[in-house]
Amino acid sequence: MPTAFSRPLQPISMLFPRNLFLKKGLLLPSNVRFSSPCRFLFGKPTERKEEDDGSEKNKPISNVEKSPRPSSSNYDLGSDWIPATKKKPAKVKVSWVCENCGATPGQWWGTCPSCHSVNTVKKISEYQYGVSNGFQVSEMAARSWLEHGSGEMVPQSLEEVKKGMNQLEWRIPLPGAFGMEVARVLGGGLVPGSLVLFGGDPGIGKSTLLLQIAACLAEGLGSEGLARVLYVSGEESMDQIGNRADRMQISETGLYLYSSTDVEDILDKIRVFSPKVLVIDSIQTVYLRGVVGSAGNVMQVKECTSALLRFAKQTSIPVLLIGHVTKSGDIAGPRILEHIVDVVLYLEGERCSTHRLLRSVKNRFGSTDELGVFEMSETGLQAVLNPSELFLSDSHHHGSEVLAGLAVSVVIEGSRTFLLEIQALCASGSTVVRHVNGVSAKRADMLISVLMKQAGLKLENTSIFINVVSGFTLTETAGDLALAAAICSSFLEFALPNNIAFIGEVGLAGELRTVPRMDKRVATVAKLGYSKCVVPASAMKSLAGLQLDIAIVHCCNLTEFINRVFRVS
Ligand code: TYD
Ligand code: MG
Repeated sequence: MPTAFSRPLQPISMLFPRNLFLKKGLLLPSNVRFSSPCRFLFGKPTERKEEDDGSEKNKPISNVEKSPRPSSSNYDLGSDWIPATKKKPAKVKVSWVCENCGATPGQWWGTCPSCHSVNTVKKISEYQYGVSNGFQVSEMAARSWLEHGSGEMVPQSLEEVKKGMNQLEWRIPLPGAFGMEVARVLGGGLVPGSLVLFGGDPGIGKSTLLLQIAACLAEGLGSEGLARVLYVSGEESMDQIGNRADRMQISETGLYLYSSTDVEDILDKIRVFSPKVLVIDSIQTVYLRGVVGSAGNVMQVKECTSALLRFAKQTSIPVLLIGHVTKSGDIAGPRILEHIVDVVLYLEGERCSTHRLLRSVKNRFGSTDELGVFEMSETGLQAVLNPSELFLSDSHHHGSEVLAGLAVSVVIEGSRTFLLEIQALCASGSTVVRHVNGVSAKRADMLISVLMKQAGLKLENTSIFINVVSGFTLTETAGDLALAAAICSSFLEFALPNNIAFIGEVGLAGELRTVPRMDKRVATVAKLGYSKCVVPASAMKSLAGLQLDIAIVHCCNLTEFINRVFRVS
């Protein structure tokens, strides 16, 4: 009869599970090996390999006499014992990050579960120990800048915080026409301690813009004695930036240049200059020592931005960053970047066109509606002071030949009103294609379907191409009526007179709807010398009080609109 004391021999792995040793911090005798089930679980104890001779290699380790069970009495720290805890290899923390949106899905995915972009989930390994992050670097840099104790904060009442704060003096001014255009997009000037990100396609003019802004800020701060603006480039040498500044006729004495890609070095070296504003060109070229990966990868971009954010907040020195844009149109690096910074501005425009638009997409200190309009010249970017007629082709200027397929709409961006020319080309051929540029493809498809179904236009076998002049992107539904007018004009081969504008939204039933700030739009059209404006009938109420020298044509739906505008008299 088997008793509790007469158990059959068991493998040592079952008698002394390894995790028991590890958990309790016990020691393993160096000659202890694990039988196969245990090897499967814990891997081979490779450190003992050289001591194994061939004869013993496959021998099951079951003889307890050879490797006695360690007891409290035989813990000997001699060479035969390996401290289990010390042999544990350094832990590598692995995480999966989407390069597009910055989501951390916890495992590899072919398509990011968050933003659905393909093949953007990448593995990031990070050594748990000895890693330096943006927090530590900025903390050290800021502390060395500030007087002892001045960086420490204590809770204050709102009254105390507000005391002595002058809204106008608080922001750093940007003088001149160029400066005023940038200041308007920023919400009225540069806020001390803010982190501003300027995004845009490569070659669009970001470095040019930032060099001009830096010079403008240096000029604005000029009255404050030793006020300096530091422009740090990781892309160009100091000579190259100097050359560019020379071409652009910039000769500010308060503007300093530095070329470096190491964030710690930048924050350390610039201390002696105590600049009032810091510009970094670009966030994808700078790196932090100790953070895994080369400059521009998700981890580096995130940590460098965090370091600069804390630096800006602690020292009240505003930091302006340049960020490249990926093929999909987002700022390269994680979307997190846009969450970290205070302000995100995009510089847009067609490469072939000289016009550049500075658009605000996020602003913690102002409105995101504002739009800055510039023109690229030989001496850099010049502000366009009266941009209302900027987005019209030559055919809309007086005395030009009238062409079919062109219609003018009025859009509002922030406090500005722009006239926008929409072009359509309807062509019949063996294959039917639809191409749009500057308008949403879905919106264009919807309008074409409404024109077919509700207005009876036979567009089924027609290829349609739509374009917005000057690379502007139409985002407002106020442009629907002009888009419909351009398609009808091309399809019916009926050239619209160049003194007529169209404002209004088109619904699925073919009805015309009013849009916000109709009075302001019509007033702009009248001011620019247009003689006729077509609007939805529902907009007449808001235009009732307006005393303008312009004929207003109002329509209820698309059928009425086509009959009134495209009727051959
Ligand atoms: P840049 O600022 O280097 O672009 P980014 O930093 O966005 O890559 O601008 C490059 C373009 O700007 C280049 O095509 C030339 C043009 N440019 C001018 O037309 N005039 C100028 O005075 C300057 C400096 C640049
Ligand atoms: Mg550049």
